Amino acid sequence: MSVRDILKMGDPRLLQQAEPITRFGTPDLDALIEDMFDTMHAVNGAGLAAPQIGVNLQLVIFGFKQNTRYPDAPPVPETVLINPVLTPLSDQIEEDWEGCLSVPGLRGVVPRWTRLHYQGVDQYGKVISRDAEGFHARVVQHECDHLAGILYPMRIEDFSRFGYVDVLFPGSDAHDD
Ligand code: NI
Repeated sequence: MSVRDILKMGDPRLLQQAEPITRFGTPDLDALIEDMFDTMHAVNGAGLAAPQIGVNLQLVIFGFKQNTRYPDAPPVPETVLINPVLTPLSDQIEEDWEGCLSVPGLRGVVPRWTRLHYQGVDQYGKVISRDAEGFHARVVQHECDHLAGILYPMRIEDFSRFGYVDVLFPGSDAHDD
């Protein structure tokens, strides 16, 4: 059980294609996931991908009841998602603000699919198959992008809506570390 260092943008390990996980229910995998939750909770993250702590595997975690970094966000079920596959459920795209623990202090407006289906397995190899929309869908897309070496600034289309949290949202609780 430990809080791990989060890699920051510029580290080439954040730009790799992550490898699929093939063995489930192992002590090593359980320990890794425990560390990821400890790390995410220590910085009030909405999600975390294994490559962000330097582990190049297709594993993301996300979920919260209430999140201080996104105070207006509805609850998202706490989830361990491995080897995910995402499929949009419509052509609809929506824009909203995003941040990333690997890009501290900044926020940008990112276009994402509004509704999607995601499929994968949990740490025991049990199938996860869900439809999601809104912030839930956004978090899944953001975290799964990390597994393809994509950070949210790479998806920004309008750089006039990209900047420092304390300048964009003065006095907001939506702070970053
Ligand atoms: Ni991120």
